[in-house]
Amino acid sequence: MQGMWIRGGRPLRGVWRVSGAKNAALKMMAAALMATEKCVITDVPAINDVRTMMGVMRHLGADVQLHPNGRLDIVPPAVDAWEAPEHLVRQMRASVLVMGPVLAKTGRVRIALPGGCAIGPRPIDLHLRGLRLMGARIVEERGFVEAHAARLRGAEIQLDFPSVGATENLMMAATLATGTTVIRNAAREPEIIDLQTFLNSMGAKVVGAGTDTIRVVGVEGLRGARHAVMPDRIEAGTAMVAAAVTGGDIVVQNVIPEHLEAVTAKLREAGVEVAPAGPGGLRVRGSGRPRSFYVRTQPHPGFPTDMQPQFMALASVAEGSSIIKETVYTSRMKHADELRRMGADIVVDGSVAVVRGVERLTGAVVEAPDLRAGAALVPAGRAGDGEPVVEGPERSDRGYELFEEKLQAVGAEVRRMAEDTPVAGGRPLVSV
Ligand code: EPZ
Repeated sequence: MQGMWIRGGRPLRGVWRVSGAKNAALKMMAAALMATEKCVITDVPAINDVRTMMGVMRHLGADVQLHPNGRLDIVPPAVDAWEAPEHLVRQMRASVLVMGPVLAKTGRVRIALPGGCAIGPRPIDLHLRGLRLMGARIVEERGFVEAHAARLRGAEIQLDFPSVGATENLMMAATLATGTTVIRNAAREPEIIDLQTFLNSMGAKVVGAGTDTIRVVGVEGLRGARHAVMPDRIEAGTAMVAAAVTGGDIVVQNVIPEHLEAVTAKLREAGVEVAPAGPGGLRVRGSGRPRSFYVRTQPHPGFPTDMQPQFMALASVAEGSSIIKETVYTSRMKHADELRRMGADIVVDGSVAVVRGVERLTGAVVEAPDLRAGAALVPAGRAGDGEPVVEGPERSDRGYELFEEKLQAVGAEVRRMAEDTPVAGGRPLVSV
């Protein structure tokens, strides 16, 4: 594992420019597999999850090139490959998003079942149930799913839970089905609206994204398209909390404020100032210790689970006791142990954390259990005394483009340590 050394005790100040959204770009890449012509997607973040998806797409026969300016050229496969590579699917769960598009385009797909992950079991039963309703014959055996359907047909699908991935997989598959598909209790995340826009520019007929009912009228084929990915609202929220937790002052640029309403409301409740800063900008100023708060994660437009670790870090230095309830995942609380090592006072009972704020966190060697937790621990380390080291920062490279460069741009003294650099008392014994 690598490490990230941080000099603590100083506020962060400056400008943070947000990249294109990981959780929108990955789905558009999958959708582009259905086109008959080249697609160009811009504002694609150069992050490890995008590289993994590029690997999956190449394996499926697509020609994919990511340029340094964030432009991704995708020439869809000429031959209908239909087996997604197991090692990449196991590495990144979002690879299951190729299932709907490949099945719809080629009439068959074979993909490894993604395993559990650091934040809990993550089944794909809702994806499979929806595809079955659209006429797919699906066999699950030896850790693989194989689906066949000469042509999918439109169906009425009621999701038991507004799953983001199931909504997207079914919406994509439905674009090439016969007849109309209606997805009820659909997820309403902004990334789904962005995917709808991309699909429609390819010639699909999708309406309703952003509401709980999505209607898709199937078409005969999808053409090439060009689309710019929406800004990453979770990266924006992470930068906002980084300002708040260090008592700093950051202007976060390239944001859509409406996407951040739940995060902004919660920050204001904690006494953090959030104000517009020109078009596409928000200025976030923390002064003194934040006030305690109650957070309950929910599907959009509720408070996003992907911001829960960052808010736990904020609660750790708040005045008074905060309560955090995770309702989307069963075990997304592992960062509590790490924050505790930094001096936080947190009791976790199942999916509820009670956080009694302390005046200051301290330096310690901690580990980032997943990508969002890493993005919570590094700014938290900056807030505390001493020189903490966060192990596993490469997990945040999965989802944050130029994370340490952006932290440095707002004044953080952070340094990446090569794998297995020995540390003692929070200090790297070998400088890198
Ligand atoms: C997306 O995951 C995001 N990933 C996640 O972001 C995010 O946390 C999540 O949505 C919720 O907002 C991408 O977009 C690539 P779900 P997804 O299907 O689609 C259960 C990050 O840090 N469920 O809405 O997998 C599931 O187990 C990542 O960027 C079923 O039970 O989320 C989970 O508890 C982490 N059966 C809950 O629903 C299913 O068939 C939410 O999952 C599908 C889901």
